[in-house]
Amino acid sequence: MEEIQKLHGLPDLTLDGGNLLFKQERLAPGLLMQAKITAEGIVESYNLMGYDAVAVGRNDLAAGLGFLQDQAAASKFTWLSANLVSKSNGEPLFSPSLIRKVGDISVGIIGLTDIKEAQRFQEENAVLLPWKSVLPKLVADLTPKCDLLILLSNNEPKQNEEIATSFTDIHIIIQSTPSARNIVPQLKNNSLMAKTGKQGKYLGWMLVNWQKSKTWGHTGAVKELALKKQELDGIIGRIGRLERREKKEDLEANASYQKLVVTREQLLSEIIFLENELYDLKESGQIPSTFENNFITLDINLPDQPEVEKIVNLTKKRVNQVGRSQAKVAGRTVSGSLLPLEKLIFTGWQACAECHKDQTEFWQKTDHAEAYQSLVEQDQQFNLDCLPCHVTAEYKDIKISGDDTVFLSLPAPLLQVGCEVCHGPGKDHVASQKPTAIYRRPHITICLRCHTTERDEMFNYTNDIEKIACPASLPREE
Ligand code: HEC
Ligand code: HEC
Ligand code: HEC
Ligand code: HEC
Repeated sequence: MEEIQKLHGLPDLTLDGGNLLFKQERLAPGLLMQAKITAEGIVESYNLMGYDAVAVGRNDLAAGLGFLQDQAAASKFTWLSANLVSKSNGEPLFSPSLIRKVGDISVGIIGLTDIKEAQRFQEENAVLLPWKSVLPKLVADLTPKCDLLILLSNNEPKQNEEIATSFTDIHIIIQSTPSARNIVPQLKNNSLMAKTGKQGKYLGWMLVNWQKSKTWGHTGAVKELALKKQELDGIIGRIGRLERREKKEDLEANASYQKLVVTREQLLSEIIFLENELYDLKESGQIPSTFENNFITLDINLPDQPEVEKIVNLTKKRVNQVGRSQAKVAGRTVSGSLLPLEKLIFTGWQACAECHKDQTEFWQKTDHAEAYQSLVEQDQQFNLDCLPCHVTAEYKDIKISGDDTVFLSLPAPLLQVGCEVCHGPGKDHVASQKPTAIYRRPHITICLRCHTTERDEMFNYTNDIEKIACPASLPREE
């Protein structure tokens, strides 16, 4: 953000469409303690990064209204929600909108919240109003005071489209729907609908050239002018080459040269005409506004800003501390827990080693065998954000049981990316020794559970599987 700022030196606004603090609308109770610490770290980082405003998204309320209100009090930026109001007096619980002067432009910003099960906030004295009952008045109030109006919307894309069609005076809609994709801004009515991929994996930035017309688009004249100028450059070049090559007398008799000269004069007068036309349009406030959009991948390898990095490291340390005490309660000691293996679907690598010596020795040399150790080295072995990818556990099964703290109570034989991560649960196979009771070659979807784009951008199944493929005990049949 600092670099973009340096590059352009233009006044700016830093906004977020919401769903900032938590990954889901509802969190399993076991996750809550660690997730709250992460949320506090996010607020601190956003304060440092100088954010202007964030919409209250449904995920931001995952730890309750009270928690978010505490975070709002600690935020140097404004949390916006025009439609989350007090049940008893109808007053908004967060600021509905905000006006910021950006250079010489007044920008109005509105926030909209969307909650699937809003009734669960009733006991916290909150109700969610539909956008139709709050936006018309708010937009009418803001329009005379603002040159540009931005909506930070947590609503579904369909709802946002309806908003765009209903209000010509909302110029940009920044969406926070829970899809991972970046969406290049699309014009609907007079609103640019923009969206950056979820969970802070991208930074979207938009360079806006806002004009008095308050409308988006290209004028034909702007495009035509650029084309004519390009054409003129070409003609001037060709004329120059001919003039260097031929004598003046010869040129007089050269028909194509004469034609080029005529074209040059024609283009020049057309360009002057278009430039005058554009000048008039600008003077009368009819030039459409334009924008340029970019998405920047916030790759895990991208170095953190030093001050933000301090906050991130401190937050991770606190998360691990809390995890450590949770694990103590769950009965896990330094090297594993009391959770009996019989209760789990996995049996652990030692059980396989007996019959598959070569493969076990091979696996022990791969990084997978050290995956948990890598967390220990970073003092992150109790962080529920890391564990699922660094141990032997079928994330989905644990999700179904609804309690992620299982990751905090895994016994030692599962504290690596072990055999069964790739070959599937092996209890039946150990008992029967039947090849049919186990998978042989892990499918790409297994790898991608952990080798996600954010964690391993370079992952290439065809090449990478060869690096970790266990040796055949017998020559393989093709
Ligand atoms: C008691 C001995 C024994 C144990 C323990 C054992 N296996 Fe096997 N495994 C076998 C035998 C026997 C075969 C079949 C060899 C054959 O017929 O090709 C086999 C085959 C396999 C195959 C190849 C399957 C195929 O389709 O070709 C894989 C993969 C495998 N085992 C993984 C494991 C894993 C993972 C574990 C631990 C969870 C494990 N085995 C535990 C004996 C064992
Ligand atoms: C979505 C799965 C996933 C999550 C979540 C995850 N990791 Fe990893 N991690 C990986 C994968 C995959 C690799 C190997 C990447 C590679 O080979 O380039 C890796 C590698 C590592 C490494 C060793 C490689 C290196 O960077 O030097 C460390 C250390 C590590 N992760 C720590 C963590 C910590 C700490 C967390 C939690 C804050 C975490 N990981 C969360 C998947 C994950
Ligand atoms: C990261 C994934 C991964 C892990 C972890 C892993 N394997 Fe494998 N394993 C493979 C792949 C890939 C192959 C090759 C399959 C093929 O193409 O035939 C393989 C093949 C095998 C085979 C079949 C060998 C043959 O005769 O063809 C056995 C047995 C086996 N692994 C056992 C193990 C055991 C035991 C462990 C743990 C100590 C283990 N694997 C860990 C990916 C893995
Ligand atoms: C449960 C999560 C998980 C799954 C599933 C997984 N990996 Fe990994 N993988 C990791 C982690 C974590 C590391 C980094 C370990 C470390 O350095 O601490 C890693 C490292 C690697 C490496 C580099 C290490 C080396 O020894 O060269 C390769 C290659 C790799 N994985 C390939 C695969 C392939 C191919 C698959 C699918 C067959 C797969 N992985 C499945 C988590 C996983």
